Amino acid sequence: MKAAIYRSGGSPDVLELADVPTPEPGPGEVRVRMVCAGVNPTDWKALATATGAPEGFAIPVQDGAGVIDAVGPGVAPDRRGERVWVLLAAHSGRWGTAAEYSVVPADRAVPLAASASFELGASLGVPALTAWHCLSPDGRPLHGASVLVSGGAGAVGNMAIQLARWAGAGRVVATVSGPDKGRLAAGVGADHVITYTDDDAISQIQAAAPEGIDRFVEVALDTNLDLDLAVAAPHARLACYAATPDTVVAMPVRALMAANLTVSFMLLYTVTPGELGAAVRAISAAVAAGALSPLPFHRFPLADAAEALAAVRDGAVGKILIDLPGA
Ligand SMILES: NC(=O)c1ccc[n+]([C@@H]2O[C@H](COP(=O)([O-])OP(=O)(O)OC[C@H]3O[C@@H](n4cnc5c(N)ncnc54)[C@H](OP(=O)(O)O)[C@@H]3O)[C@@H](O)[C@H]2O)c1
Repeated sequence: MKAAIYRSGGSPDVLELADVPTPEPGPGEVRVRMVCAGVNPTDWKALATATGAPEGFAIPVQDGAGVIDAVGPGVAPDRRGERVWVLLAAHSGRWGTAAEYSVVPADRAVPLAASASFELGASLGVPALTAWHCLSPDGRPLHGASVLVSGGAGAVGNMAIQLARWAGAGRVVATVSGPDKGRLAAGVGADHVITYTDDDAISQIQAAAPEGIDRFVEVALDTNLDLDLAVAAPHARLACYAATPDTVVAMPVRALMAANLTVSFMLLYTVTPGELGAAVRAISAAVAAGALSPLPFHRFPLADAAEALAAVRDGAVGKILIDLPGA
């Protein structure tokens, strides 16, 4: 099969298009004929820090969508032919989604509703799982809650707006850096879109959510903590999902105590299997209800996988997809 492979880590241009043996699914695994792969920041970051490919080569990219074409021992044979979205494909194995086929544990190939496009399926994975876990880290219902999503045009933020809407949030406020991103946030259901660089961003959010914000999905805790604290309702919950290796945040502990604010942190790779399963179920239900749509696409052929990862690294707005032949 054709695949974008790497033999040692580095910048996206270490990727090469190669012919490699088509993988066979082992016990409990399925093979997916990929239709498209969805690229996220984690893909270029993982490549940058990879120390090598112990088995000779590895294929990057966690997310994708396609059709199961083979199942390993212990997997129901009638899963063959199933349309699926794929998650965490490159996390614990070498068969990432930037290839004609990927092999993953059966529970990482999730049935994709017939009404959903493969492009949407490839846009779920990392962004939607992260968004859902941040919205509901403890499984508490969101019904009626006021939610603030920072970075509402980002992959995670845009999914967070939609999932909050689907889950019955009372009011969804999003912050963005400018009008183009504002349109992407408003287009998926944010009630209020606020430019976070405005001098009066805090009072705009307070006007939008006079009772205060109950849940925060936070992409930049270091720059936004003061704003978040200023607009938080008592007993609010703030989930932070992004940082650089050097990010350090000074916490105004007394003010956080006074607000009884809960600040939590998450990394998708280390959430519990139970938490991951809860997020998969919520996202699948939202897809089946027609509640999720993808960001505008930028499409790359497999031969240009390096350019696809570089586009994400360089801050492309929208969803970066790698097209694969498997429909
Ligand atoms: N913890 C996890 O498991 C996990 C999971 C998924 C993603 N992540 C990380 O989360 C980050 C975002 O991922 P993504 O896929 O959503 O990336 P993305 O599509 O590039 O979106 C990031 C968004 O954040 C916005 N932003 C940046 N600084 C901001 C600020 N101070 N206030 C409000 N918005 C701000 C950006 O827009 P402007 O710069 O124009 O404001 C951009 O729209 C990445 O660093 C990624 O590695 C972590």
